[in-house]
Order: sequence, then structure tokens, then C-alpha cells
Amino acid sequence: MVSLMSDAAFRQQVRAAFDKAADSYDDAAVVQREVCARLDALSRRHPGGPPRRILDAGCGTGFGLPFLAERFPEATVLALDFAPAMLSRLPAGIALAVGGDMEHLPLRDGSVDAVWSSLALQWCHPARALAEIARILLPGGRAWLATLGPATLRELRDAFAGLDDSEHVLGFHGLSSWVTEATLAGLTPVATDRVECHATAPTLRQLLKDIKAIGAHNVGGGRRRNPLGKAAWRTLEGRYEGHRRPDGLLPATYDVILLHLERSL
Ligand SMILES: C[S@@+](CC[C@H](N)C(=O)[O-])C[C@H]1O[C@@H](n2cnc3c(N)ncnc32)[C@H](O)[C@@H]1O
Repeated sequence: MVSLMSDAAFRQQVRAAFDKAADSYDDAAVVQREVCARLDALSRRHPGGPPRRILDAGCGTGFGLPFLAERFPEATVLALDFAPAMLSRLPAGIALAVGGDMEHLPLRDGSVDAVWSSLALQWCHPARALAEIARILLPGGRAWLATLGPATLRELRDAFAGLDDSEHVLGFHGLSSWVTEATLAGLTPVATDRVECHATAPTLRQLLKDIKAIGAHNVGGGRRRNPLGKAAWRTLEGRYEGHRRPDGLLPATYDVILLHLERSL
């Protein structure tokens, strides 16, 4: 994610947003569930031996855990997040909760044989987070990662264009950039994919409310935003109307990048 803020301030703001969103997350996170299913499907395309110890990095409220538990019932799963309120909502008995930062994982070198991470890496510095994943993986270990690409929330970015001087939708890294960073970190791409998922709502107000409910509203623009004036809001709504679908709903696109990586031997 491209941000104008200092790393520490940005991370603090992301953590606060997710802590605040913990109560509303599960009801609003429709796309997040879909992405977990797609990541599961990608990881099954190239099955390996069953891992014994798996890390779910940026686990949130634990959407990834049922996939991992169903597929690898014998494995120990560590569920890591830096937002305590998200961890407090993990389902009981499936995983060991670990408070920690994906850029400084509190795990020993070569201590897990698989890493799962769905829709958390876009909040991290790619090189730092991938280096940490490579460090804690055993040689031959696998990483199944889903993150967001540059076309994410493109309707919103277009609708806001020129309305004021704030940055309303952050920049996201593309697939080739993730592949390059992964390779530099010692992680070999086994399979990659890029798919579009869509959140929908009947009104723009509801769509923005849903984005806020999953903690993914603009937290990294680097400048405090003033609320939009009435005229600007009407312009925004008018522009967004152009995206209304035949089913009567407004979409918000999530450009999802899926990576299956293997730690070099
Ligand atoms: C959109 S949620 C996704 C949660 C879950 N993986 C899912 O699929 O629903 C992103 C999660 O990543 C966590 N996160 C973001 N940056 C992080 C970091 N640097 N270290 C640890 N957790 C982080 C947030 O606190 C949040 O719970």
C-alpha cells in the first residue's frame, strides 16, 4: 500500500481502524469470505504434504480458520493479528491466538510449514512482510496469500476525482510487483491469479458504510479529510450512479491478487 504517512503512524491507524471494526466486521465482510474460498481453491490446485504448523497472518475474526481446519485437521494453527479486538472474536478451539505484527513476526526462523494470509498484506510493507514469511517458513514450506491490487475501489476513485484535494482511495501494488518482491524474499511463485470480487449495496451511503464496517475505509491518506460538502456529495452520488447494475445495486470492485509461493529449499 502506498501511503504518505510514516510507517508507524500508518500501522497505528490501521490497527485502530480494525479494532473499531471488530464488532461490525463479520456481517459486512461478504467479499472477504469469497476471497477465502478463492484462496482455498488456489492452494488446492498444487497440493503438497499436509503441514504440521500453519500461520494465519492477519487472521481478523478468523474467516480462514474453517478452511484450514477442514483441510488440515491434524495441524496446529496459529492465528496472528495486531488488533486485539479482532483476535477476541476468533472462534474458540480452532487456533492459538497470537498478538503480533506481520512485519515483525513473533515466531522463530523455520518454525511453520505453511502460511495463509487473506486480505491483510495490502496494509503491510511488501518487502518486509514477505521477508518475514520467508524467514519463519521451513524450506519447501508454502505461503497462500490474497491481497488487493490497483483496481480496488476503482469506481470510488473515479467518482472522487477532482472533488477535493484529499486522497480517498489508497494505491495498491500490482501482481508483478508482489511476484518480484516475493522472489527477492526467497519465495518462488507456484501459481498466481487475479480476480475481481464485488461488494454491492442499494445506495452509495450504504456501500461506504459497509467499507467502513470492515475497517477498510481510507486510513492512510496522510491528511485529515474534511467531510464533503452537500454539493460535492451530490456530484459524487451522481457520478457513482453511472455504475448502477441491472439488478439495481451499486458495486464496489475488489481487485484480488492470489499467490501460492514456495520457500526455496
Ligand atoms: C480485512 S481484515 C482480513 C481478516 C481475515 N484474514 C479475513 O479474511 O477476514 C485484515 C486484518 O489484517 C490485520 N492486519 C493488518 N495489518 C497487520 C499487521 N501489520 N500485522 C498484523 N495484523 C495486521 C488487521 O488487524 C485485520 O484484522
